[in-house]
Amino acid sequence: MLRLNKLVKTYRTGDKALQEIDLEVPEGQVLALIGPSGAGKSTLIRCINRLVEPTGGEVWLGDQELTGLGPGALRKARREMGMIFQEYALVERLTVMENVLSGRLGYVGFWRSFLRRYPQSDVDEAFRLLDRVGLLQMADKRADELSGGQRQRVGICRALIQNPKVLLVDEPTASLDPKTSRQIMRLITELCRERGLAAIINIHDVALAQRFVPRVVGLRMGEIVYDGPPTGLTPDKLTEIYGEEDWEATAEPEDDAAPEAAE
Ligand SMILES: Nc1ncnc2c1ncn2[C@@H]1O[C@H](COP(=O)(O)OP(=O)(O)O)[C@@H](O)[C@H]1O
Ligand SMILES: [Mg+2]
Repeated sequence: MLRLNKLVKTYRTGDKALQEIDLEVPEGQVLALIGPSGAGKSTLIRCINRLVEPTGGEVWLGDQELTGLGPGALRKARREMGMIFQEYALVERLTVMENVLSGRLGYVGFWRSFLRRYPQSDVDEAFRLLDRVGLLQMADKRADELSGGQRQRVGICRALIQNPKVLLVDEPTASLDPKTSRQIMRLITELCRERGLAAIINIHDVALAQRFVPRVVGLRMGEIVYDGPPTGLTPDKLTEIYGEEDWEATAEPEDDAAPEAAE
């Protein structure tokens, strides 16, 4: 459903961030994109929704080529792609509810959103999503009153209220503690399953990736050097992906016995 053909990104600085990436993500599949800092993970997901303009190659979402779209069509196509960033990407002075509703900006007109008049159906859906992620009681709180994990839940709701087909997730746990990181990864993967969403989750933490996704893609210097199940990530493979970096240092010891249990 999502397909990258020979995707290339060379920044003006000459940095070859992506080198002819071929990648196919079937409907409903959640994969983790791992690799050291600078490997091209953020560039890859940003090229998909063209927050970063690819230098070459194609991106297809279903039967639509995104790389060829003009501004109007691109705006429409972006509705299909929900983005989740590190948890601080909220509007601080807005409430939780307003932050979630801002995910509808691609649908409601500019003036309507400017005046913050969202249709009742959007408000209802926002409440449903907040309830699902356990934040119903926080709807009126300002974003800056929330903990890191709560903020990321808001970010997840904001992406989902778009009703996307694909989630593009960039280091969702980068500034969260290990336990909260696991909760957030569990929530994202559960929601994808519930909604049949495909997702690419950029994540630096190998152990976290291995624990929650069926497919891992390893990126090194703009090239895919691994694509397979988490169990295939042998120490040799990890060294190939991470090079000199001490990837073992990122592994978290298992300290919750029952991964399925709600934390
Ligand atoms: N805006 C930019 N201008 C120039 N080079 C960039 C820019 N963004 C990223 N790069 C370079 O592209 C490469 C990949 O970066 P990035 O996609 O951010 O990797 P990752 O997310 O895996 O850390 C790096 O060499 C980085 O320095
Ligand atoms: Mg990055």
